[in-house]
Amino acid sequence: MTVTETGRVFQTTSERRLNHAMLPMRLYHKAKKLGVWDPRDIDFTQDQRDWQSLNEAEKRTVIRLCALFVAGEEAVTLDLLPLIRAVAREGRLEEEMYLTTFLFEEAKHTEVFRRFLDEVVGETSDLSVYHKDNYRKIFYEYLPQAMERLIDDPSPEAQAEASVTYNMVVEGVLAETGYYAFFNSLQRQGKMPGLMQAIGYLKRDESRHIGYGTYLLSRLISEHPHIWDVVNRRINLLMPYALGVVQDLFAEMETPESQQLAAELGITEPPFGFDPNEFLGYATKQFQSRLHVLERARGKSVDEIYKLSEETVGVEA
Ligand code: MN
Ligand code: FE2
Repeated sequence: MTVTETGRVFQTTSERRLNHAMLPMRLYHKAKKLGVWDPRDIDFTQDQRDWQSLNEAEKRTVIRLCALFVAGEEAVTLDLLPLIRAVAREGRLEEEMYLTTFLFEEAKHTEVFRRFLDEVVGETSDLSVYHKDNYRKIFYEYLPQAMERLIDDPSPEAQAEASVTYNMVVEGVLAETGYYAFFNSLQRQGKMPGLMQAIGYLKRDESRHIGYGTYLLSRLISEHPHIWDVVNRRINLLMPYALGVVQDLFAEMETPESQQLAAELGITEPPFGFDPNEFLGYATKQFQSRLHVLERARGKSVDEIYKLSEETVGVEA
């Protein structure tokens, strides 16, 4: 039943009231406390000084990562709405209440990366040149297609494909691995405190987003057992591209051009001591742990899914 059919019953005037025990509602309460940081409050003064101290290879790496992130955050900001609408049309008030915080947070993630590019890097050129084939496949095709499809087809199958693409692959593999890469490179050097602060907030916001996605897919699998197969097919389709994005990033650092530049500058180490295997290993591990949660949703009741804990779905406190 959709909310526009006659015989409408408001949940908040019925005995159901609001279910504060459900995971989405607990995430909503967390988001109101933790998701309200202001990108404009971040102090980039030290970052501006640190930027000058980076070598050319390091600068390029940061710009390349920012080019993937700023567009990725823009994409998830623009593409989320059809999923919110599909959930709202099913009358899932608690889930929609949580999703209101989700979209607001993605908007701020977009803002903070653009602000960093403007005020620290001073970059105004076309950064889409850093979007290689694997990235384009996901952010220019699969993500917007899966999300837009929900406008005409809000079926459980379409919702599952959308959530796998958005929450499991884009957020769960790409965003998380990217933050990890940023954090581990710049943090190790004690540089860019403003950017590190922003990424700390982003990671925490993102853990709630992925937690919701894990909840949504668990619920869909619990309600419709065949969705497990839909989820797996979608994962198998997208994973090669997702891992390809990570590989492309490292391949870029190893082009003859960048190696020559490194030689001229007397740089023998990869930028920030990056190790591709570390990131691919991290991406795979994070993903496997969530797949495990979804697998366990098979044969569970929806009531049990409601009780999924923040810990189980990896939400940061
Ligand atoms: Mn985000
Ligand atoms: Fe997100």
